[in-house]
Amino acid sequence: MLSDEKQRHPFLEGLSKHRGAPPTVVVIFGASGDLTARKLVPAIYNLSLDNLLPPDFYLVGFGRKPLADNAFREAVTEAVRSYSRREFQPEIWKRVGGNALYHQGAYDEPAPYRSLRERIEAVEAEIGREVQVVFYISTPPSVFKPILENLGASGLARRHLHTPFASKVVIEKPFGSDLESARELNRVITEQFDERQVYRIDHYLGKETVQDLLVQRFANSIFEPLWNRRYVECVQITVAEDLGVGSRGSYYEQSGAMRDMIQNHTMQLLSLIAMEPPVSLDPEDIRDEKVKLLKAIQPLDLDENASDVVRAQYSEGLIGGRKVLGYTDEEGVASNSATETYTALRLSINNWRWAGVPFYMRSGKRMARRVSEIAVQFKRPPGILFSDAERFDLASNTMVIQIQPDEGTTLLLNSKIPGLETRTQPVKMHFRYRTTYGSNTPEAYERLILDAMVGDSTLFIRGDETEASWYLITPILEHWRKLGRRGMASYVAGSWGPLASERLLWDNRHEWRRAGP
Ligand code: NDP
Ligand code: BG6
Repeated sequence: MLSDEKQRHPFLEGLSKHRGAPPTVVVIFGASGDLTARKLVPAIYNLSLDNLLPPDFYLVGFGRKPLADNAFREAVTEAVRSYSRREFQPEIWKRVGGNALYHQGAYDEPAPYRSLRERIEAVEAEIGREVQVVFYISTPPSVFKPILENLGASGLARRHLHTPFASKVVIEKPFGSDLESARELNRVITEQFDERQVYRIDHYLGKETVQDLLVQRFANSIFEPLWNRRYVECVQITVAEDLGVGSRGSYYEQSGAMRDMIQNHTMQLLSLIAMEPPVSLDPEDIRDEKVKLLKAIQPLDLDENASDVVRAQYSEGLIGGRKVLGYTDEEGVASNSATETYTALRLSINNWRWAGVPFYMRSGKRMARRVSEIAVQFKRPPGILFSDAERFDLASNTMVIQIQPDEGTTLLLNSKIPGLETRTQPVKMHFRYRTTYGSNTPEAYERLILDAMVGDSTLFIRGDETEASWYLITPILEHWRKLGRRGMASYVAGSWGPLASERLLWDNRHEWRRAGP
């Protein structure tokens, strides 16, 4: 039974509808990893705290090194203590953490998968019921393929297929490193699983504010009539981080901002803000619209016109008053690295709604502040009444959806300054999650793990969707590969990016917003 306070919490009302997962075993591949400890296990703990796990729930960690069940239980308990957003309650965790099992084996050998199957069957025999298994692949991508193939060969992938207990597979990012590798990964997946069993993660889709995009756009009638080329001047999407690459330098060297953030998270934001209304909230209807939108984006031909994209690396600078290294001095990064830590793009969407409206996107590490937002800037009214710039300080009406932090929506309007003279200034109308709903919102992974368990794929990426995004991004990466470091701009850590990214907007007489509320 939930406490009164939890029953009233508005975020949980949504989640409670999702009860009803069958008995479930979640198997995490890469169970000793950073993501498991920081995000996955704390998410499972918070689901158990909210009473959202099925009564028969088991956690199995799969990894290469030998580890006793007890040692694994201690490790997951420590992860909850260290990283849960809410306080550790041993009584609540005992049922899940105390039952956790560890399964040792190489990812690319068949034997551990056969023994895993036997262990799962033993669980079924013990509880006297069938269980569904959710395989969560949280390893580096180099072993995605052997894991998927062994799940197929051992029969684990097709256990109880066409029943409510069919297996599911959740796959972490990165989903390929270009169009060809994404296609190959999709091929391997669909050889072993039906698409309905597959949950490709983009954790941005699990964020409350990203889910709210659909609601703000389609549950209100005042925005949609304006949401088109007649009224919208431009759209700016910013996903800025103040963190650097930290200990992930060697991973990041193979990735860069385009693969790490733009191909997935930022493209998802773009799809949701620009797509047509889906015919229903069915996952396939929503994903159909996102794919249609991605297909309408004009591919960039950088051999013809390289000025639609900017890439840059951060140099030494100050973050929060503290001196930080430049990218090429970070651990695991080559001194002559050609990996971008910042990318900005200007995109056009060739459809009836958006033709002629520039969509600007930027994402970078070590920027001035951590902020993700979508700003829809509306056209100015005709300059008939308030054209005297001395008296009338007018801003473009802008709707800013702040994804994080300090989640909320701000509307920028122009208002008369009180007084006997008619003078104007821009003012802001704020809606903030913190003040309306309180601050303890579920983490993205809580929602995503729950949705995978109950079989709701709305917040996951479909195979054709990831390919549509790679189709746009791959030629840019190929162009950069040919150039090496040539044309790589630089920005001081703690700034808003390189000058070149300002120029990206000048052609259209636009400028980047100073992101934030
Ligand atoms: P880790 O590097 O921590 O690796 C996870 C586990 O995989 C390791 O503990 C290890 O487990 C196993 N492993 C590591 N290297 C290899 C290798 N070369 N071959 C086989 N197994 C290996 O990864 P993370 O936990 O950081 O990330 C997991 C997945 O999640 C990745 O796909 C990553 O891109 C994605 N991700 C991670 C984020 C994060 O914040 N960490 C954020 C978003 C996505 P063992 O030795 O026990 O087998
Ligand atoms: C991950 C990227 O997908 O998203 C990281 O690999 C990045 O480099 C992270 O830091 C950002 O996620 P969030 O939720 O902190 O915005």
